[in-house]
Amino acid sequence: MQEGGKNWKAGIAEMSARLTIAIDGPAGSGKSTVARRTAALLGYLYLDSGAMYRAVALKALERKIPIEDEAALEALTRETRIELRPPTPEQETAGLKNRVFLDGREVTEEIRKAEVAQAASRLATIAGVREVLVAEQQRAGQGGGVVMEGRDIGTVVFPKAELKIFLEASAETRAQRRWKEHQEKGDKFSLLEVLQEVRERDKRDRERKVSPLVRAADAVLLDNTAMGIEETARLIVFLAHEREAVHT
Ligand code: CDP
Ligand code: CDP
Repeated sequence: MQEGGKNWKAGIAEMSARLTIAIDGPAGSGKSTVARRTAALLGYLYLDSGAMYRAVALKALERKIPIEDEAALEALTRETRIELRPPTPEQETAGLKNRVFLDGREVTEEIRKAEVAQAASRLATIAGVREVLVAEQQRAGQGGGVVMEGRDIGTVVFPKAELKIFLEASAETRAQRRWKEHQEKGDKFSLLEVLQEVRERDKRDRERKVSPLVRAADAVLLDNTAMGIEETARLIVFLAHEREAVHT
């Protein structure tokens, strides 16, 4: 069946609702990898909100702004321009999920360092900083057809997201995954050090006053300790198709 010169399948794809999918969870639970793959399978945009906290944290470290100086950090966030761009096909094959530009400078690799992760989680406790970045995330994801991952996507950024996933994995598995990444990059951290870093950050993220890491009441809890990336992403795609049908 042809309709207005278009293939009927394309017509149906156009008609089907483009959802907002929120994926939250602790460090190393697989959010970025799974979100990126889910977005690719659905033809959606992938957005990594953690990269934004990391980028501002990197800038603060470079400018030696003390983490206690909340007013200065909020002002810094306001004057910062962060861009998330999809990787080139070659970068994607090499495992890169997002390219990150801080005031026009590429910081994709730098923001993945352990010290930047720690600074990001401290910066993320500041309400004024979160306000600026949340507004930015809402702008970037407006209109749907997006998979956004972080800590507060389903609770604060997109509380009306049609599909919310809370991704979990045991702390040991998460640390093992992060350790493997450090090994591949040549960073010489022990598994115990990585486990401590992950635990410390999780504790801060879960216990902070503003937008703590918490499972939204309507989020699907998905423990992927014993699941691969593809399997996890396909399960989310399955759930997304169910919700798409409801929202069409
Ligand atoms: O974004 P988040 O910190 O939640 O985790 P990630 O960066 O997506 O995943 C951490 C590492 O675990 C990556 O190297 C993934 O390839 C790996 N991973 C895995 O081996 N099995 C999964 N089911 C999910 C992620
Ligand atoms: O990749 P990983 O899960 O280790 O961290 P990330 O998602 O890149 O986030 C880095 C830090 O930013 C987290 O430890 C959180 O403190 C903070 N963050 C947040 O507070 N809210 C978000 N939506 C995303 C990240």
